[in-house]
Amino acid sequence: MRGIAIALTLIASFATAQGAGNIAHGRAKAMQYCSACHKVTATQPQPPEVFDREADDHIQAPPFTTVAAKYATNEAGLRAFVHLPQYPMPAQELSPTDLSDLSAYILSLNNPKK
Ligand code: HEC
Repeated sequence: MRGIAIALTLIASFATAQGAGNIAHGRAKAMQYCSACHKVTATQPQPPEVFDREADDHIQAPPFTTVAAKYATNEAGLRAFVHLPQYPMPAQELSPTDLSDLSAYILSLNNPKK
């Protein structure tokens, strides 16, 4: 019995470490909130570049596969950026659940088999 309890605790903490977000929900949110600028799925056509007033130039928002690789071991950093983005990416009203789901979806792109 004790062994089972320990195993369950380990599984639970692993799930937490992987982020408790719902990947399917996160994908839907990404399509809704992010796909105007970012290529959020492998099959989505590349969206147009964004005009950066400060740089007086157009810049391409990175595809989510690139974002996933950059933040592979830094989910907190990913959440922080999306919560308080850097210009020209706009801040959006996202609940903590949406942020968790979005991060879970983005980071799942590091494991394309899933
Ligand atoms: C209006 C266009 C726009 C929308 C909508 C948008 N982004 Fe961005 N995002 C950008 C641009 C442009 C950059 C690149 C900023 C730069 O390089 O300075 C960026 C960069 C990022 C980065 C990269 C940060 C880094 O460290 O390289 C992340 C993560 C990100 N966006 C996540 C998201 C998520 C998640 C959403 C949806 C909730 C979203 N973005 C919606 C334009 C957008």
